[in-house]
Amino acid sequence: MIFDFDQPIPRAHTDSQKWQKYAGRDILPMWVADMDFKCAPAILAALHERVDHGLFGYARPVKSTVDAVVAAMERNYGWKIESSWIVWLPGLVVGLNVTAQAFAEPGEEVLTLSPVYPPFMTAPKNSARASVQVPFVLSGGAWTIDWDALERAVTPKTKLFYLCNPHNPLARVWRREELVRLADFCVRHSLVLCSDEIHCDLILDPALKHHPTAALSPEIAARTITLMAPSKTYNVPGLGTSFAIISDPMRRARFVRATSGIVAEVNNLGYVACEAAYRDGEAWRQELLAYLRGNRDLLLDFVARELPGVVIEAPVEATYLVWLNVRALGLADPIAHFEQHGVGLSEGAAFGAKKGDYVRINLGCTRATLTEALRRMKAALAAR
Ligand SMILES: Cc1ncc(COP(=O)(O)O)c(C=O)c1O
Repeated sequence: MIFDFDQPIPRAHTDSQKWQKYAGRDILPMWVADMDFKCAPAILAALHERVDHGLFGYARPVKSTVDAVVAAMERNYGWKIESSWIVWLPGLVVGLNVTAQAFAEPGEEVLTLSPVYPPFMTAPKNSARASVQVPFVLSGGAWTIDWDALERAVTPKTKLFYLCNPHNPLARVWRREELVRLADFCVRHSLVLCSDEIHCDLILDPALKHHPTAALSPEIAARTITLMAPSKTYNVPGLGTSFAIISDPMRRARFVRATSGIVAEVNNLGYVACEAAYRDGEAWRQELLAYLRGNRDLLLDFVARELPGVVIEAPVEATYLVWLNVRALGLADPIAHFEQHGVGLSEGAAFGAKKGDYVRINLGCTRATLTEALRRMKAALAAR
C-alpha cells in the first residue's frame, strides 16, 4: 500500500456537512456519501500548483482537462466520446433537476426504480413534474427489476426514466443484458433515459464491469443523458465538478438551454482536481477499492455474526454505501435509536423504503472508525 487509508484525519471542526451534523455529540457520522480519506496526492499537488498561480477568474476547462475525461471513458469502459458531448455542471443533482425541466413538461411524469437516492424522486417535483416509482424486488438473493410493474407504470405522461447505474443504495452493478432491456423499454416508450453513473468507478466485485448505458448502442446513446463526476470516487464532492455526456446535438442543446442563467459554472479548482483525478488517480483508486472491499467484508462478517436482526439481503457489488434491512429489530425509529448509541446512519424512508425497515451505512471511513461504529451498533441492539 502506497496510500494510507488508515490515517485518521479530524474533520469535526471543519466545513464537513457529514461531521457538522453531529457537532458536539459523540456520534460517528456514517450517513452522507463522502469519505473520510484525504484525496490522492496527485490531486493535492495539482490543486497546490493552481492555488500558487493565485488567480481565480471565471473558469472554462482547458483542453487537457477535457482530454482527461475523454481518455478515462475510453480507458475504463472502451467508450469513445467526443469532447463536444460534455456539458460541465456543478453537481449531479443539478443534472437530475435540469433533465427533468428539459425533457418533461409540468405535470408530466419521470419514472424511476426505488429505493433510490432521494433526489431521483424530489428533482421532478421541484419543477412540478411528477415522480413515479416502481419498487425493486428481491429475487434469488439479488435486487431485480419488476419488468411487468415497470410496463404498467408507463402512462401517456411518462417522458423520462432515471436510472442509477451502479445503484445507490442497493450497491448493485447492472448487468449488460439488464441495461439492454431497460434501454429497449425506453426506446419502445419514447422515454429519454437519464443515467446517473456517479458511482461507476467504485465497482467492488472484480468479476463485474461497469457498462455506461449510452455505450450500449448508438440508438440508446441518442436518447441518453449520462451524468458523471470524479466526486464520489476521488472524494472531491465539495469542489462541485460534474458533467453530462450527451451525444445527440438536439437533446444537448435542450439540456444546455435549461441550464442557462440558472446553473453556476464550474470553478477553477474543480477543473484542476477533475483532470488530475482522471489522468493521475488510477493507482490511488485501485488502493481505495481494495480498502473499501476490506471494509465491506468486515461489515458483512460482523453483521452476520454480531448483529442478529440486521440483514444485508444482496451482494454489495459497488459503492461504499450499504443498505441494511433492520425491520426485524422492531424499532419505530432506527435512526434515532442508533444515534442514541453513537452511530449516525441514513434514513431508509428518504430512499423510498417504509419507515423503520431500512437504514444505509457509509463505509467510506477508516477501518478503526468502522470497527467502532459496529461495536456501537452491537451495543444498540443489546439496549433495545
Ligand atoms: C446516485 C447519486 N447521484 C448524485 C449524487 C450527488 O451528486 P452531486 O453531489 O454531484 O450533486 C449522489 C451522492 O451521494 C449519488 O449517490
